[in-house]
Order: sequence, then structure tokens, then C-alpha cells
Amino acid sequence: MYKIAVLVSGSGSDLQSIIDAVESSYVNCSIKAVISDKPDVYALERAKSKGIETYVFDRKVYGKNISEEILKVTEGKVDLIVLAGFLSILSEKLIKIFSNKIINIHPSLIPSFCGNGMYGLKVHQAAIDYGVKFSGCTVHFVDEGTDTGAIILQQVVPVLENDTAETLQKRVLEEEHKILPKAVKLLAEGSVKIDGRKVYIGGV
Ligand code: GAR
Repeated sequence: MYKIAVLVSGSGSDLQSIIDAVESSYVNCSIKAVISDKPDVYALERAKSKGIETYVFDRKVYGKNISEEILKVTEGKVDLIVLAGFLSILSEKLIKIFSNKIINIHPSLIPSFCGNGMYGLKVHQAAIDYGVKFSGCTVHFVDEGTDTGAIILQQVVPVLENDTAETLQKRVLEEEHKILPKAVKLLAEGSVKIDGRKVYIGGV
């Protein structure tokens, strides 16, 4: 069976969307590990309550060596690493070993409002401040850059005139919870082909 590890740093609602998709058999895979770079985050409770193995590699303790710890848990053991709100930077070594086997979800339409320092509410505030009429979310492969890897799926979300970062975040999250499990499903089924920056879904 296709095996995944999910990396988290926060509340883990994106993780929950994958757990739910596995439980409902929408996605045929097994979540082998949930790894957090912060202790005491709610994502860990979500995993533990389902009997999923959890690991904490506190970024304050491990710093740049966090990728080595992640490799010990994942190398040769999982087919895919999913970054679900994970905020530490991964090493080039890990990214090379898991080439085209790490995906990330970002709460905007990449290449807008992404890159270093762009995470969580900051992304939505930047979209509102810029005045865009549409934002959304993106699932992409992880390469050596920040949010620069090839795009797998995107979903558009309208920005409303009275939106705050919080209200926009809420509506974008609802879409994240659809496209993230969908991306995992497509990858688990072998339906994703990558050719440079272009990603083809289905029998192409
Ligand atoms: C999600 O909105 C995810 O897209 C974002 O963090 C949130 C995690 O929420 N990721 C980034 O901003 C990465 N640059 P969650 O902990 O409830 O899943």
C-alpha cells in the first residue's frame, strides 16, 4: 500500500482532511507518521487519537538538523511526504532523496503571495492589502526554492469586499481540505506525471 508521512506545525486541519479521506476510503494509503517541528500542537492530538505514530523534532532543539531526523523516520519507509502547514525549511539532501515525492499546500494562488515569510494569516492579509479579487490555494511539489516547485492542483476562492484575513483564511481552508486529499489520491493512484514545470493529471 502507498505510504505517506505528514509534516505539521499547527492545528492540523489539513492533516485532518487526509485522515478523513483515508478513513472514508477516498484515498487508498496509509499514514505511517505525523511529524511536528513544535511540541504540543493540536495536529499531534489529531494523529494520536487515530493511533498514528507521532514524532516531535522541536525546531528550537534541532534547528537545521531537523531534516536528518525526518529522514530517519521516512527514508525507505514512505512513498510521499506531505507538508501540511509545516513551517521549517527542509535540507537539499532530503529534497533530493525525495525528489518529486514531497508536496506542500500553500494558501494562495502561487506564484502570488508566497515565498519566504509567507505563511498562515500573513498570506491572506497580503492578498487583501493588494486588492486581488481572487485568491485560493495550491498544492505543489517541493523543490529547493520556497514555494517554487511544479504546481499539481489549484483552487480559486473569491475575495469579498468585507473579507478580513481570518474570514478569507476560513474559506480558503475549506478548499485546501478538498485539494490536498485529492492530490494525495492522484499521486497514490499514479495519475500524476511531471515534465519540468508542467504537471499532467490522468492518462497523459
Ligand atoms: C494552512 O492554511 C496551510 O495552507 C498553511 O498553513 C495552514 C495550516 O493549517 N501553510 C502555509 O502557509 C505554508 N506556507 P492547519 O495547521 O490547520 O492544517
